[in-house]
Amino acid sequence: MRKSLAVRAPDGPEPAPGSSLADHFGSKVFGLPYETPFLGLDLTTVTEAYEHLRLALPRGTEIKFAMKCNADGRLLQKVKDLGGGFVVASYGELAVLRDLEIAASAADAAEVLFSNPVKRPDDVSHAFAAGLDRFAFDSEREAEKLAELAPGSRVYVRLKTRAAQSAVPSEGKFGVPADHAARLMLYAASLGLVPYGITFHVGSQMTEATAWETAIAEAAAVMRALADNEVRIQMLNMGGGFPVQYDGTAVPSMAAIGKSIGRAIGQLPYPVRTVVEPGRFLAAPAGVMVASVIGVAERDGARWVHLDAGAFNGFMESLETSNTLRYPVTDSRGQGSTRTTHLTGPSCDSQDTIMFGVELSHDLDVGDTVAIWQTGAYTLVYAAEAFNGISAPSAYLLDRAV
Ligand SMILES: Cc1ncc(COP(=O)(O)O)c(C=O)c1O
Repeated sequence: MRKSLAVRAPDGPEPAPGSSLADHFGSKVFGLPYETPFLGLDLTTVTEAYEHLRLALPRGTEIKFAMKCNADGRLLQKVKDLGGGFVVASYGELAVLRDLEIAASAADAAEVLFSNPVKRPDDVSHAFAAGLDRFAFDSEREAEKLAELAPGSRVYVRLKTRAAQSAVPSEGKFGVPADHAARLMLYAASLGLVPYGITFHVGSQMTEATAWETAIAEAAAVMRALADNEVRIQMLNMGGGFPVQYDGTAVPSMAAIGKSIGRAIGQLPYPVRTVVEPGRFLAAPAGVMVASVIGVAERDGARWVHLDAGAFNGFMESLETSNTLRYPVTDSRGQGSTRTTHLTGPSCDSQDTIMFGVELSHDLDVGDTVAIWQTGAYTLVYAAEAFNGISAPSAYLLDRAV
């Protein structure tokens, strides 16, 4: 069976990045000489997605990749070569960039943003010593921590966003309302920090095109409140959340999202540097997880196919979304008739299932292979090193010439 991944955006003829990965490689991924499970990564798709995003966003918007979604060194280097920057969630991520010589100098580290609103104290000290001096925060206590461990650094406050349609919402963990955000920035200034910017994250895999516009309007309110206190910010960081096409729910096109963002930016009280922090949009379409069938079973009239990869080997987002994230799947048996199947993992744990009710070849058997597409983001970074004694998958670059 081979499902088509070619997807047209609902409001235009925009091809979705990622369709090219399946179009280029299709069943060829079943013949690759790597031990399963593995993640195949295609850097050409990263380039396509990057260009797609850049052209859709208002001119001059800086793209800083959220490496929390995929920290593969080859992918990071590709983002750097494309002109992209980086945001980190820990010093460990900055250390990866330093080791790769992407952020070897203090000047390079200063281009990186630390967007985790609550940071480990040692991470703040180490990052600041390396040259990074722009930090997100959303509490008085974090401002005090930054004033102590990164004195004089530039800070950007994290705004709460309205609950909207995102597949992987942030559970309200981060962000404060506009009035609190303005007070926090004034408090930070009183501690000797530079009130540098405002940020938000609308939620990952956001399917409402206007979610960013709504959040930017809130940021404008913070800017006005700060201006009343003679404070001008320099950066609006609009976070990530840009959606990719899985099976099922249609997602808005980047063109529609970009237009909506452009409208909102035009309403800001004064011009500022604009930044986005995409993760999924750049990395997900570039990856395909290839896994082997290790067992098949009939249970209560349902057919289960067990793979050598499951929730704990890269499919944590299946758990996070209660299995509603529907990765496109193909299998090595090809064009035959299909059967509705539950696709699960290798652990002795009943939370290990990737998807319920997918159509796979009716005769799929032990030793066959399954390709799970759109899996370049939030997969390997989540894979357990040794849960149930099973090691994490490796990543290999796909070669379009093959
Ligand atoms: C602060 C921050 N920025 C950016 C991202 C990237 O989000 P996405 O992968 O949805 O683009 C995340 C992901 O959760 C995040 O927490």
